[in-house]
Amino acid sequence: MSEATRTAMESVPEVLRESSPETDLGFLWDFWYPALRSDEIYGQNLAKATLLEVPLVLGRAIGGKAFAMRDSCPHRGIPLSYGHFDGKVLQCCYHGWEFDACSGQCLAIPSLTSQDKLKVERISAGHFPCEERDGYVWVYLNVPGTRLTEAIPPAPELPKFSAKFKITRLDCELPSHIDHGIIGLMDPAHGPFVHQSWFWRSKKSAHEKFKQFEPIPNGFRMSKHSPSTNSLPYQWLKKITGEPVTTTIDFVLPNMRSEEIRTGKFWFSSRATVTPVRRNSCRIDFVAAWNLPLPISIFRAFAKVFLRQDQETMIQQSEGLKHNPRLMLIDDADRPAKWYFALKQNLVEERRTGVPLPHPMDGPVTLHWKS
Ligand code: FES
Ligand SMILES: [Fe+2]
Repeated sequence: MSEATRTAMESVPEVLRESSPETDLGFLWDFWYPALRSDEIYGQNLAKATLLEVPLVLGRAIGGKAFAMRDSCPHRGIPLSYGHFDGKVLQCCYHGWEFDACSGQCLAIPSLTSQDKLKVERISAGHFPCEERDGYVWVYLNVPGTRLTEAIPPAPELPKFSAKFKITRLDCELPSHIDHGIIGLMDPAHGPFVHQSWFWRSKKSAHEKFKQFEPIPNGFRMSKHSPSTNSLPYQWLKKITGEPVTTTIDFVLPNMRSEEIRTGKFWFSSRATVTPVRRNSCRIDFVAAWNLPLPISIFRAFAKVFLRQDQETMIQQSEGLKHNPRLMLIDDADRPAKWYFALKQNLVEERRTGVPLPHPMDGPVTLHWKS
Protein backbone atom coordinates (compact mmCIF):
# COMPACT_ATOMS: atom_id res chain seq x y z
CA MET A 1 0.00 0.00 0.00
CA SER A 2 1.44 3.43 -0.93
CA GLU A 3 2.01 6.00 1.77
CA ALA A 4 -0.57 8.27 0.13
CA THR A 5 -3.30 5.61 0.33
CA ARG A 6 -2.33 4.75 3.83
CA THR A 7 -2.60 8.38 4.92
CA ALA A 8 -6.04 8.70 3.38
CA MET A 9 -7.21 5.68 5.34
CA GLU A 10 -5.66 6.60 8.61
CA SER A 11 -8.68 7.66 10.58
CA VAL A 12 -11.55 6.12 8.63
CA PRO A 13 -11.89 2.37 8.17
CA GLU A 14 -12.35 1.38 4.54
CA VAL A 15 -15.72 -0.13 3.77
CA LEU A 16 -15.31 -3.25 1.66
CA ARG A 17 -18.85 -3.47 0.38
CA GLU A 18 -21.87 -1.30 0.96
CA SER A 19 -24.74 -3.47 2.03
CA SER A 20 -27.10 -3.82 -0.88
CA PRO A 21 -30.69 -2.57 -0.43
CA GLU A 22 -32.90 -5.41 0.69
CA THR A 23 -35.43 -6.58 -1.84
CA ASP A 24 -38.98 -6.09 -0.65
CA LEU A 25 -39.93 -9.21 1.23
CA GLY A 26 -43.22 -7.86 2.49
CA PHE A 27 -41.88 -7.22 6.00
CA LEU A 28 -42.96 -4.25 8.10
CA TRP A 29 -39.98 -2.49 9.64
CA ASP A 30 -39.94 0.01 12.50
CA PHE A 31 -41.91 -2.18 14.87
CA TRP A 32 -41.19 -4.28 17.94
CA TYR A 33 -40.98 -8.05 17.40
CA PRO A 34 -40.48 -10.77 20.00
CA ALA A 35 -37.09 -12.37 19.38
CA LEU A 36 -36.74 -14.89 22.20
CA ARG A 37 -38.15 -15.89 25.53
CA SER A 38 -36.52 -14.06 28.45
CA ASP A 39 -35.32 -17.32 29.99
CA GLU A 40 -33.27 -18.08 26.87
CA ILE A 41 -30.72 -15.44 27.84
CA TYR A 42 -29.00 -15.98 31.15
CA GLY A 43 -25.56 -15.56 32.71
CA GLN A 44 -22.96 -14.73 30.10
CA ASN A 45 -24.32 -16.92 27.36
CA LEU A 46 -25.11 -15.53 23.94
CA ALA A 47 -28.25 -16.58 22.12
CA LYS A 48 -29.04 -16.36 18.42
CA ALA A 49 -32.31 -15.34 16.80
CA THR A 50 -33.47 -14.26 13.36
CA LEU A 51 -36.12 -11.61 12.76
CA LEU A 52 -37.10 -10.37 9.29
CA GLU A 53 -34.01 -12.19 7.95
CA VAL A 54 -31.78 -10.14 10.26
CA PRO A 55 -29.40 -12.38 12.24
CA LEU A 56 -29.26 -11.30 15.88
CA VAL A 57 -27.13 -12.12 18.87
CA LEU A 58 -28.77 -11.49 22.22
CA GLY A 59 -27.54 -11.56 25.77
CA ARG A 60 -27.90 -10.02 29.17
CA ALA A 61 -25.43 -7.51 30.58
CA ILE A 62 -24.38 -7.53 34.24
CA GLY A 63 -27.31 -5.97 36.03
CA GLY A 64 -29.80 -7.83 33.87
CA LYS A 65 -30.41 -5.54 30.89
CA ALA A 66 -31.03 -7.49 27.69
CA PHE A 67 -29.28 -6.39 24.50
CA ALA A 68 -29.55 -7.26 20.82
CA MET A 69 -26.83 -6.82 18.20
CA ARG A 70 -26.62 -7.79 14.57
CA ASP A 71 -24.94 -11.18 14.63
CA SER A 72 -22.21 -10.05 12.30
CA CYS A 73 -18.87 -8.47 13.11
CA PRO A 74 -18.47 -5.15 11.28
CA HIS A 75 -14.86 -6.15 10.48
CA ARG A 76 -15.35 -9.32 8.38
CA GLY A 77 -18.85 -10.46 9.13
CA ILE A 78 -18.21 -13.51 11.28
CA PRO A 79 -21.15 -14.00 13.67
CA LEU A 80 -20.45 -12.22 16.93
CA SER A 81 -22.28 -15.06 18.67
CA TYR A 82 -19.08 -17.15 18.25
CA GLY A 83 -17.28 -14.56 20.34
CA HIS A 84 -16.78 -14.19 24.06
CA PHE A 85 -18.98 -12.15 26.34
CA ASP A 86 -17.99 -11.17 29.88
CA GLY A 87 -21.20 -9.47 30.94
CA LYS A 88 -20.23 -6.11 29.44
CA VAL A 89 -17.93 -6.52 26.46
CA LEU A 90 -18.47 -8.82 23.50
CA GLN A 91 -15.21 -9.84 21.88
CA CYS A 92 -15.19 -11.15 18.33
CA CYS A 93 -13.57 -14.58 17.98
CA TYR A 94 -11.71 -13.72 14.74
CA HIS A 95 -9.43 -10.71 15.44
CA GLY A 96 -10.58 -9.89 18.92
CA TRP A 97 -12.31 -6.58 18.29
CA GLU A 98 -14.24 -5.61 21.39
CA PHE A 99 -17.71 -4.09 21.46
CA ASP A 100 -19.80 -2.62 24.24
CA ALA A 101 -22.80 -4.97 24.31
CA CYS A 102 -25.22 -2.26 25.44
CA SER A 103 -24.39 0.23 22.67
CA GLY A 104 -22.57 -1.74 19.97
CA GLN A 105 -19.72 0.74 20.06
CA CYS A 106 -16.25 -0.61 19.33
CA LEU A 107 -13.96 -0.32 22.35
CA ALA A 108 -10.72 -1.91 21.21
CA ILE A 109 -8.93 -3.37 18.18
CA PRO A 110 -6.08 -5.53 19.44
CA SER A 111 -3.99 -5.32 16.23
CA LEU A 112 -3.58 -1.53 16.39
CA THR A 113 -0.18 -0.13 17.32
CA SER A 114 0.88 3.27 18.54
CA GLN A 115 1.41 4.11 14.83
CA ASP A 116 -2.30 3.75 14.00
CA LYS A 117 -4.65 6.68 14.09
CA LEU A 118 -7.87 4.75 13.49
CA LYS A 119 -10.63 6.10 15.71
CA VAL A 120 -11.94 2.92 17.28
CA GLU A 121 -14.95 4.65 18.83
CA ARG A 122 -16.26 5.58 15.39
CA ILE A 123 -16.80 1.92 14.60
CA SER A 124 -19.99 0.31 15.72
CA ALA A 125 -21.59 -3.10 15.44
CA GLY A 126 -25.27 -3.19 14.44
CA HIS A 127 -27.32 -2.64 17.56
CA PHE A 128 -31.09 -2.68 18.19
CA PRO A 129 -33.38 -1.38 20.95
CA CYS A 130 -34.34 -4.24 23.21
CA GLU A 131 -36.97 -4.49 25.96
CA GLU A 132 -38.49 -7.30 27.98
CA ARG A 133 -42.23 -7.76 28.57
CA ASP A 134 -44.28 -10.72 29.74
CA GLY A 135 -41.27 -13.02 29.53
CA TYR A 136 -40.25 -12.10 25.98
CA VAL A 137 -37.27 -10.18 24.68
CA TRP A 138 -38.60 -7.68 22.14
CA VAL A 139 -36.36 -6.12 19.53
CA TYR A 140 -37.19 -2.99 17.58
CA LEU A 141 -36.19 -3.44 13.96
CA ASN A 142 -35.62 -0.38 11.86
CA VAL A 143 -35.10 -0.51 8.11
CA PRO A 144 -31.58 -1.86 7.42
CA GLY A 145 -29.13 0.92 6.75
CA THR A 146 -31.27 3.63 8.38
CA ARG A 147 -30.88 5.32 11.73
CA LEU A 148 -33.50 5.39 14.43
CA THR A 149 -34.91 8.89 14.20
CA GLU A 150 -37.98 9.48 16.29
CA ALA A 151 -38.53 8.33 19.83
CA ILE A 152 -39.73 4.75 19.58
CA PRO A 153 -42.89 3.55 21.36
CA PRO A 154 -42.59 1.18 24.33
CA ALA A 155 -42.68 -2.55 23.53
CA PRO A 156 -46.18 -4.11 23.62
CA GLU A 157 -47.46 -5.53 26.89
CA LEU A 158 -50.25 -8.02 27.49
CA PRO A 159 -53.13 -6.31 29.38
CA LYS A 160 -53.90 -7.83 32.80
CA PHE A 161 -56.83 -6.86 34.97
CA SER A 162 -55.95 -7.96 38.50
CA ALA A 163 -52.84 -8.15 40.64
CA LYS A 164 -52.88 -11.95 40.80
CA PHE A 165 -53.00 -14.02 37.64
CA LYS A 166 -51.58 -17.05 35.89
CA ILE A 167 -49.56 -16.64 32.72
CA THR A 168 -48.29 -19.07 30.13
CA ARG A 169 -46.54 -18.96 26.74
CA LEU A 170 -46.51 -21.22 23.72
CA ASP A 171 -44.96 -20.95 20.31
CA CYS A 172 -45.12 -22.67 16.99
CA GLU A 173 -43.12 -22.34 13.78
CA LEU A 174 -44.80 -22.12 10.42
CA PRO A 175 -43.12 -22.71 7.04
CA SER A 176 -45.00 -19.74 5.60
CA HIS A 177 -44.57 -16.15 4.61
CA ILE A 178 -45.77 -13.76 7.32
CA ASP A 179 -48.88 -12.83 5.30
CA HIS A 180 -50.12 -16.43 5.21
CA GLY A 181 -49.39 -16.80 8.91
CA ILE A 182 -51.45 -13.70 9.65
CA ILE A 183 -54.42 -14.38 7.47
CA GLY A 184 -54.50 -17.93 8.85
CA LEU A 185 -54.64 -16.44 12.34
CA MET A 186 -57.63 -14.22 11.61
CA ASP A 187 -59.53 -16.59 9.35
CA PRO A 188 -62.88 -17.63 10.90
CA ALA A 189 -63.87 -20.20 8.27
CA HIS A 190 -61.23 -22.86 8.97
CA GLY A 191 -62.46 -23.43 12.54
CA PRO A 192 -65.00 -26.20 11.90
CA PHE A 193 -62.56 -28.05 9.62
CA VAL A 194 -59.14 -27.60 11.21
CA HIS A 195 -60.12 -27.26 14.87
CA GLN A 196 -62.69 -30.00 15.14
CA SER A 197 -62.39 -31.53 18.57
CA TRP A 198 -64.71 -32.60 21.35
CA PHE A 199 -63.61 -29.68 23.51
CA TRP A 200 -63.97 -27.02 20.85
CA ARG A 201 -66.56 -27.69 18.19
CA SER A 202 -67.69 -30.16 15.59
CA LYS A 203 -68.26 -29.66 11.90
CA LYS A 204 -71.99 -30.12 12.51
CA SER A 205 -72.13 -27.31 15.04
CA ALA A 206 -71.30 -24.73 12.36
CA HIS A 207 -74.01 -22.09 11.99
CA GLU A 208 -74.46 -18.65 10.50
CA LYS A 209 -72.92 -15.86 12.48
CA PHE A 210 -72.66 -12.15 12.23
CA LYS A 211 -69.99 -10.15 13.95
CA GLN A 212 -69.54 -6.44 14.15
CA PHE A 213 -66.15 -4.95 13.37
CA GLU A 214 -64.89 -1.42 13.87
CA PRO A 215 -61.75 0.40 12.73
CA ILE A 216 -58.99 1.12 15.27
CA PRO A 217 -55.61 2.78 14.58
CA ASN A 218 -53.49 0.47 12.41
CA GLY A 219 -56.04 -2.31 12.75
CA PHE A 220 -59.58 -3.45 13.37
CA ARG A 221 -61.64 -4.75 16.25
CA MET A 222 -64.28 -7.44 16.50
CA SER A 223 -66.51 -5.41 18.78
CA LYS A 224 -67.39 -6.65 22.25
CA HIS A 225 -69.89 -9.52 21.91
CA SER A 226 -71.04 -12.74 23.54
CA PRO A 227 -68.87 -15.51 22.09
CA SER A 228 -70.17 -18.38 20.05
CA THR A 229 -72.28 -20.83 22.03
CA ASN A 230 -71.01 -23.83 20.06
CA SER A 231 -67.67 -23.77 21.87
CA LEU A 232 -67.47 -25.78 25.07
CA PRO A 233 -65.05 -23.46 26.92
CA TYR A 234 -67.48 -20.55 26.70
CA GLN A 235 -70.37 -22.71 27.93
CA TRP A 236 -68.19 -23.79 30.84
CA LEU A 237 -67.27 -20.17 31.63
CA LYS A 238 -70.88 -19.11 31.72
CA LYS A 239 -71.69 -22.02 34.00
CA ILE A 240 -68.98 -21.33 36.57
CA THR A 241 -69.52 -17.59 36.82
CA GLY A 242 -73.25 -17.44 36.18
CA GLU A 243 -72.61 -14.16 34.44
CA PRO A 244 -72.64 -13.23 30.78
CA VAL A 245 -69.38 -13.75 28.89
CA THR A 246 -68.07 -11.06 26.55
CA THR A 247 -65.12 -11.08 24.23
CA THR A 248 -63.32 -8.41 22.22
CA ILE A 249 -60.70 -9.23 19.60
CA ASP A 250 -58.26 -6.75 18.09
CA PHE A 251 -55.87 -7.08 15.21
CA VAL A 252 -53.15 -4.44 15.01
CA LEU A 253 -50.23 -4.10 12.60
CA PRO A 254 -47.70 -5.40 12.19
CA ASN A 255 -48.77 -8.82 13.46
CA MET A 256 -50.80 -8.83 16.65
CA ARG A 257 -54.11 -10.43 17.56
CA SER A 258 -55.28 -9.81 21.10
CA GLU A 259 -58.37 -11.10 22.81
CA GLU A 260 -59.97 -10.03 26.04
CA ILE A 261 -62.65 -12.23 27.62
CA ARG A 262 -64.58 -11.00 30.66
CA THR A 263 -67.17 -12.59 32.86
CA GLY A 264 -68.01 -11.10 36.25
CA LYS A 265 -64.76 -10.59 38.13
CA PHE A 266 -62.94 -13.08 35.95
CA TRP A 267 -60.87 -12.25 32.91
CA PHE A 268 -58.76 -13.97 30.30
CA SER A 269 -56.36 -12.01 28.14
CA SER A 270 -54.32 -13.43 25.28
CA ARG A 271 -52.12 -12.28 22.46
CA ALA A 272 -50.78 -14.04 19.42
CA THR A 273 -48.07 -12.43 17.33
CA VAL A 274 -46.90 -13.81 14.02
CA THR A 275 -43.29 -12.80 13.55
CA PRO A 276 -41.45 -13.04 10.25
CA VAL A 277 -38.27 -15.06 10.68
CA ARG A 278 -37.28 -15.48 7.05
CA ARG A 279 -39.14 -14.89 3.80
CA ASN A 280 -40.80 -18.26 4.06
CA SER A 281 -40.99 -18.86 7.74
CA CYS A 282 -42.67 -17.22 10.65
CA ARG A 283 -43.38 -18.01 14.27
CA ILE A 284 -46.50 -17.67 16.36
CA ASP A 285 -45.84 -16.57 19.92
CA PHE A 286 -48.89 -17.02 22.06
CA VAL A 287 -49.15 -15.65 25.58
CA ALA A 288 -52.20 -15.85 27.80
CA ALA A 289 -52.94 -14.61 31.32
CA TRP A 290 -56.08 -15.14 33.41
CA ASN A 291 -57.52 -15.11 36.90
CA LEU A 292 -60.02 -17.88 36.17
CA PRO A 293 -59.95 -21.12 38.16
CA LEU A 294 -58.15 -22.79 35.27
CA PRO A 295 -54.90 -24.69 35.88
CA ILE A 296 -52.06 -23.77 33.53
CA SER A 297 -51.38 -27.44 32.65
CA ILE A 298 -54.94 -27.99 31.42
CA PHE A 299 -54.99 -24.80 29.40
CA ARG A 300 -51.64 -25.66 27.81
CA ALA A 301 -52.76 -29.13 26.84
CA PHE A 302 -55.71 -27.71 24.89
CA ALA A 303 -53.81 -24.75 23.45
CA LYS A 304 -51.09 -27.09 22.16
CA VAL A 305 -53.64 -29.19 20.28
CA PHE A 306 -55.03 -26.01 18.76
CA LEU A 307 -51.66 -24.67 17.66
CA ARG A 308 -50.62 -28.04 16.26
CA GLN A 309 -53.77 -28.17 14.15
CA ASP A 310 -52.91 -24.76 12.67
CA GLN A 311 -49.29 -25.74 12.18
CA GLU A 312 -50.12 -28.98 10.37
CA THR A 313 -52.48 -27.13 8.06
CA MET A 314 -49.89 -24.46 7.28
CA ILE A 315 -47.30 -27.15 6.50
CA GLN A 316 -49.75 -28.70 4.05
CA GLN A 317 -50.57 -25.29 2.57
CA SER A 318 -46.89 -24.49 2.05
CA GLU A 319 -46.64 -27.61 -0.12
CA GLY A 320 -49.25 -26.10 -2.44
CA LEU A 321 -47.86 -22.58 -2.33
CA LYS A 322 -44.53 -23.77 -3.77
CA HIS A 323 -46.25 -23.85 -7.15
CA ASN A 324 -47.36 -20.22 -6.96
CA PRO A 325 -51.08 -20.85 -7.36
CA ARG A 326 -53.58 -18.05 -7.91
CA LEU A 327 -55.45 -17.45 -4.66
CA MET A 328 -58.78 -15.95 -3.69
CA LEU A 329 -60.15 -13.85 -0.88
CA ILE A 330 -63.93 -14.04 -0.61
CA ASP A 331 -66.49 -11.93 1.22
CA ASP A 332 -67.30 -11.94 4.10
CA ALA A 333 -65.15 -14.64 5.66
CA ASP A 334 -61.94 -13.28 4.11
CA ARG A 335 -62.76 -9.62 4.62
CA PRO A 336 -60.43 -9.32 7.68
CA ALA A 337 -57.62 -10.62 5.45
CA LYS A 338 -58.46 -7.92 2.88
CA TRP A 339 -58.31 -5.28 5.62
CA TYR A 340 -54.94 -6.59 6.71
CA PHE A 341 -53.49 -6.24 3.20
CA ALA A 342 -55.03 -2.78 2.79
CA LEU A 343 -53.77 -1.57 6.17
CA LYS A 344 -50.32 -2.86 5.40
CA GLN A 345 -50.25 -1.23 1.98
CA ASN A 346 -51.48 2.08 3.46
CA LEU A 347 -48.81 2.04 6.11
CA VAL A 348 -46.02 1.45 3.60
CA GLU A 349 -47.41 4.22 1.38
CA GLU A 350 -47.85 6.65 4.30
CA ARG A 351 -44.31 6.09 5.41
CA ARG A 352 -43.04 6.60 1.86
CA THR A 353 -44.97 9.79 1.17
CA GLY A 354 -45.55 11.18 4.65
CA VAL A 355 -49.23 11.66 3.72
CA PRO A 356 -51.82 9.97 5.97
CA LEU A 357 -54.30 7.72 4.15
CA PRO A 358 -57.89 6.89 5.17
CA HIS A 359 -58.52 3.69 7.10
CA PRO A 360 -59.71 0.92 4.72
CA MET A 361 -62.93 0.63 6.77
CA ASP A 362 -65.10 3.72 6.75
CA GLY A 363 -66.87 2.77 9.96
CA PRO A 364 -68.35 -0.17 11.85
CA VAL A 365 -69.44 -3.03 9.62
CA THR A 366 -71.16 -6.36 10.22
CA LEU A 367 -69.70 -9.44 8.57
CA HIS A 368 -71.59 -12.68 8.05
CA TRP A 369 -70.18 -16.18 7.74
CA LYS A 370 -70.88 -19.73 8.78
CA SER A 371 -68.53 -21.46 11.17
S1 FES B 1 -14.06 -10.39 11.99
FE1 FES B 1 -14.51 -9.70 13.94
S2 FES B 1 -12.67 -8.88 14.62
FE2 FES B 1 -12.26 -9.41 12.61
FE1 LIG C 1 -56.62 -21.82 13.57
